[in-house]
Amino acid sequence: MKIVVLGSGGREHAITRTLLRSPQVERVFCVPGNGGTATTDRCENLALGADDFPGIGQFCSDNHISLVVVGPELPLSQGITDYLQQQQIPVFGPTKAGAQIESSKAWAKALMATAGIPTAFASVFTDANMAIAYVQTGKLPIVVKADGLAAGKGVTVATTLAAAEAAISAAFTGKFGAAGSQILIEECLYGQEVSILALTDGQAIIPLLSAQDHKRIGPGDTGANTGGMGAYAPAPIVTPNLMQRIEKEILSPAVRALADRGIVYRGVLYAGLMITPPGDPKVIEFNCRFGDPEIQAILPLLETPLEEILYATATGRLAELGPIAWKNEVCACVVLAANGYPGTYEKGKVITGIDLAEALGAIVFQAGTRLQDRQLLIDGGRVLNIVATDSTFKQAFARAYAAVDCIGFEGMYYRQDIGHRLLKA
Ligand code: AMP
Ligand code: GLY
Repeated sequence: MKIVVLGSGGREHAITRTLLRSPQVERVFCVPGNGGTATTDRCENLALGADDFPGIGQFCSDNHISLVVVGPELPLSQGITDYLQQQQIPVFGPTKAGAQIESSKAWAKALMATAGIPTAFASVFTDANMAIAYVQTGKLPIVVKADGLAAGKGVTVATTLAAAEAAISAAFTGKFGAAGSQILIEECLYGQEVSILALTDGQAIIPLLSAQDHKRIGPGDTGANTGGMGAYAPAPIVTPNLMQRIEKEILSPAVRALADRGIVYRGVLYAGLMITPPGDPKVIEFNCRFGDPEIQAILPLLETPLEEILYATATGRLAELGPIAWKNEVCACVVLAANGYPGTYEKGKVITGIDLAEALGAIVFQAGTRLQDRQLLIDGGRVLNIVATDSTFKQAFARAYAAVDCIGFEGMYYRQDIGHRLLKA
């Protein structure tokens, strides 16, 4: 089987390496890939953009590609799946209509309302003055969200009226481009966040192991929001009983509501949840793809061949798959970032020590890296994911952090407290 993976982050390197564990997978082609996929056996990077639909389609038909796996949300929201499906190429990832669950928060809220899915109360605004008048009468903190895709930067949890007004003005003066021409103002939820990444082919639903991300840049979950600074799986807060409730109250009604809108949704339905204090799950947001870095902490525990899972999902045969097998272990993932991330940072610095880290038994999934003249260089804000599995979280984190010590690059930044809630408990 030959597979194309679209994207260039840690998620895509993790997907690629997991696919290649299976002897059934002959070769993986990454579009455009990163330094990690460039140095993985049986894998090669293609000099195509993830938005070059005709180029990708042509490559797939010329090379008898069996499956295209779409990593990021952007090509999904631009309709890559619709484009390739017209050429009879199986695609893991929803159509443009299905991707609206992530690309329009207002659309997702309306879907949740019709399906009766528990979520924060929200109002939608297309006018700054009306939005400002609304927050002046509301309770603080309050959450201001750009409607469209804003690379994880479109959400402000405002603790003061001034911060809420500034977020509203920023959105309506074009900070997020067209993504901010409509905003949501949302009730603030409290509790613990977890990510549930569920596979669905539009009918059957199979949740993967639960995971917890660490979105903030600073220790103790402080400072700016990032794409995610570390993760672990499975999240002990998601008991079997809670997982059943999540399936019944959130995942099943969402897939049914999508089907009622004529959407056959095939790929990942990612529910970002707040487990509110009595233990009730509420949706913060839905995404239409795997979480990054959550999936880097989930895939090392997977035993079932990944290509079977993704192919069954893409071709509507998920019900025939049977239960997914997992290792009876836990997994820790620490993200190493460039100095300055999530703000501005410098590219091009040399990265060393990956072989040493892997010799300690850790897995290094590369993210913002590129290979140039046999040197590995920084090419993005989140640079590497250091991942370790073990029988307890204490040991898994100890192994991951020991491997972190092997890595070197100028200005390397990471959180030293990934898993802090868990390890304290
Ligand atoms: P999102 O891009 O929607 O995932 O939001 C980014 C982050 O903002 C989430 O992971 C939460 O930490 C926070 N957030 C978003 N919406 C809410 C809400 N209604 N209440 C509290 N925190 C929120
Ligand atoms: N780690 C959060 C996300 O992928 O959206």
